[in-house]
Amino acid sequence: MEIVPDRNTPLPQLIVKWAYTGIRLALSPGATIGYFAFFELLILLLRPDIVDKDNRVRIVPTEELPNQFDFIIIGSGSAGAVLANRLTENKNWTVLLLEAGGEEGVISAVPAYSFELLNTGLDWQFKSEPSSTYCQGMVNNQCPMYTGKVLGGTSSINTLLYVRGNQRDYDNWEDLGNPGWGYDDVLPYFKKAENVTIPELRESPYRGTSGPLTVENPRYEHPIKRYFLNATSEMGYRQVDINGKTQMGFDRPQSTTRNGLRCSTERAYLRSAADRKNLYISTNSLVHKILMDKTTKTAYGVEFVRENIRRSVRARKEVILSAGAVQSPHLLMLSGIGPKEHLEDVGIKVIHDSPGVGQNLQDHITIGGLTFPIDPPYDTSTTTLAQVTDFLVKREGHLFGIGVCEVLGFMKTRYANSSNDYPDLQIFMGSAALNTNSELVKSVYGLRDDFYSALYADIIDKEAYSVVPSLIHPKSRGYIKLRDNNVAHKPIIVPLYFDHPNDLEVLVEGVYFAYNLSQTWAMKELNARPNSNVIPECAYLNFPSRDYWRCYARFFSWNLYHHTSTCKMGPADDKMAVVDSRLRVYGVNRLRVVDASIMPTITSGNPNAPTIMIAEKAADLIKKDNPIFSGGCKTSNVRASENIFPAWQGYDYA
Ligand SMILES: Cc1cc2nc3c(=O)[nH]c(=O)nc-3n(C[C@H](O)[C@H](O)[C@H](O)COP(=O)(O)OP(=O)(O)OC[C@H]3O[C@@H](n4cnc5c(N)ncnc54)[C@H](O)[C@@H]3O)c2cc1C
Ligand SMILES: *[C@@H]1O[C@H](CO)[C@@H](O)[C@H](O)[C@H]1NC(C)=O
Ligand SMILES: *[C@@H]1O[C@H](CO)[C@@H](O)[C@H](O)[C@H]1NC(C)=O
Ligand SMILES: *[C@@H]1O[C@H](CO)[C@@H](O)[C@H](O)[C@H]1NC(C)=O
Ligand SMILES: *[C@@H]1O[C@H](CO)[C@@H](O)[C@H](O)[C@H]1NC(C)=O
Ligand SMILES: *[C@@H]1O[C@H](CO)[C@@H](O)[C@H](O)[C@H]1NC(C)=O
Repeated sequence: MEIVPDRNTPLPQLIVKWAYTGIRLALSPGATIGYFAFFELLILLLRPDIVDKDNRVRIVPTEELPNQFDFIIIGSGSAGAVLANRLTENKNWTVLLLEAGGEEGVISAVPAYSFELLNTGLDWQFKSEPSSTYCQGMVNNQCPMYTGKVLGGTSSINTLLYVRGNQRDYDNWEDLGNPGWGYDDVLPYFKKAENVTIPELRESPYRGTSGPLTVENPRYEHPIKRYFLNATSEMGYRQVDINGKTQMGFDRPQSTTRNGLRCSTERAYLRSAADRKNLYISTNSLVHKILMDKTTKTAYGVEFVRENIRRSVRARKEVILSAGAVQSPHLLMLSGIGPKEHLEDVGIKVIHDSPGVGQNLQDHITIGGLTFPIDPPYDTSTTTLAQVTDFLVKREGHLFGIGVCEVLGFMKTRYANSSNDYPDLQIFMGSAALNTNSELVKSVYGLRDDFYSALYADIIDKEAYSVVPSLIHPKSRGYIKLRDNNVAHKPIIVPLYFDHPNDLEVLVEGVYFAYNLSQTWAMKELNARPNSNVIPECAYLNFPSRDYWRCYARFFSWNLYHHTSTCKMGPADDKMAVVDSRLRVYGVNRLRVVDASIMPTITSGNPNAPTIMIAEKAADLIKKDNPIFSGGCKTSNVRASENIFPAWQGYDYA
């Protein structure tokens, strides 16, 4: 095939066309790997803004790494990157940021390709232990537990939704004995982080406009959005800023994107601090343990391996653990802080018996795969070539979309308190349903072939939309334990979804919401109809009875990878609390945990924005607890809390 140069076609379009055609021929039967390698090449050639060469972070070569820093941060994710930025605002402090993964590539910038990043080297590829009560439609009955392994952590591979959660979530945290974490206390930190560019929200007293994290509406507007919004308004729900005054209602999603492209914490917080001499970033550096003085129970450094070389580095002030809800408890236990008996069982010397480490695991479980075939009057089909050209040259089109979530919102089931603003289900409505892109869908959701076929075989690639109800206040609690004492071995993850009977009852209400939505005038215009395929394992129950859906939920249990709360914050008299309200680890000195694992209860919505808030607030706590001395006059740093936290007495800030 020959491409005839057309004088009206601008040069960039032509290059795309040529190169695309050439490579497609070259790789013809070829898999998506070829496509992505090539797409990447085109970005490198045509989109210097995505490559962003001048602003990329500086990775310190091993031989230039000092042996001592003021602070050492383990993990550069949603929380760690924020801390690295805020703590290096003080030029007198040196900070080492250790990350097991590498740099963020260019593909992760593209919103529509977020699922393509999973099951790759950018992700730890954790899975839950096999279960006979959930995730039964998945290969080996295991739920994937995706977690980012890259600068920016999970914010570099997630689905980009910006959701703060409910005001009451934070007031509950405070009521649980965590002063300073009520909604009024945390709101300033949500605002500090954010630069919302949605014009009608910039004036809102709830929103921020001068922070590093850009928040927008996804650039691509799928036509089905209007139908969803009309349908929800027909059902009586208001269109609200779900991140504003009240949460009940529906709207287009807000996304952590800048100019339509992913705005991970790497982009928001690390690139903007790239030229600070006091920030040392070391990638491909796997931390093996936190170094502890056993007699004084004080963290004084960390041991990590980079390029097969084992290094020990020291922290003059503090070690901060931001390795996420799976690995923060993992590393604490490997370092001797955790449930005593369990540590002894795997041969780890106990430094501090902390029974709560790894416990209290929470996540958002959903009913996955609900699919509604439609006959739309619009046509959104496009060729890959057109998509790529739109993206690279016109900077518009499908690749800027978040297909799994065109509209989202919050509703109350009959189990919720009807007289306050505390919904119990979050609902995601997608233009993309699971009957398309089968191979990717099966691999990302971890579905068995036979299970997938039972649901979709006769509607593969037909027009359809999806509705996903998510249980936002789960009562079930899971746990994380060590498999053994080797850091390279993945920990045991047991989420125990549906362990508490209420959870299933509330979640099943979401199916009825989805059905009701399909019956609105707005969706009838699309001839929306529920997928009537029944999974064989539940076929003995009447379809579509409540019993059927209870059964179905245990097969298509889609956890949203929102694992949190495994090093929970709580008062000193709560034996299961791992950190205090200043995020200091109980029982040892100079060690904090700052990430999604400290949430006492999971927030009502996707946890990225709340985790960023936690880190913004933690940075201020750390600054206050480590006063800056000028002129050699050492100010007193006695805090009222010290008498309740004996382990922190004698903390030497100098
Ligand atoms: C597929 C997917 C989609 C999601 N979609 C959304 C969404 O749309 N919106 C939303 O709000 N939330 C979403 N989430 C969840 C959200 O992104 C996470 O809850 C949040 O990013 C967690 O932040 P964190 O700082 O706790 O941990 P992470 O961001 O995971 O950071 C931990 C970092 O520590 C590093 N690390 C771990 N162990 C070590 C070690 N031993 N040595 C060195 N480094 C180490 C890891 O490599 C990682 O970079 C999604 C999650 C996934 C997986
Ligand atoms: C916030 O975003 C707008 C729009 O992209 C930009 O013009 C402005 O400079 C940003 N503000 C800050 C403080 O970064
Ligand atoms: C949504 O509702 C408005 C107002 O009733 C109507 O004008 C519009 O055509 C509807 N849009 C769709 C896509 O149904
Ligand atoms: C429901 O909410 C109202 C208003 O906040 C509160 O007064 C009431 O106690 C709640 N009821 C229950 C059962 O929690
Ligand atoms: C669905 O609609 C029925 C009939 O109007 C109503 O009784 C029920 O409460 C609705 N359920 C949900 C979850 O919206
Ligand atoms: C840094 O240290 C110098 C000298 O000790 C002191 O004068 C200055 O105030 C400090 N600045 C900050 C921001 O800590």
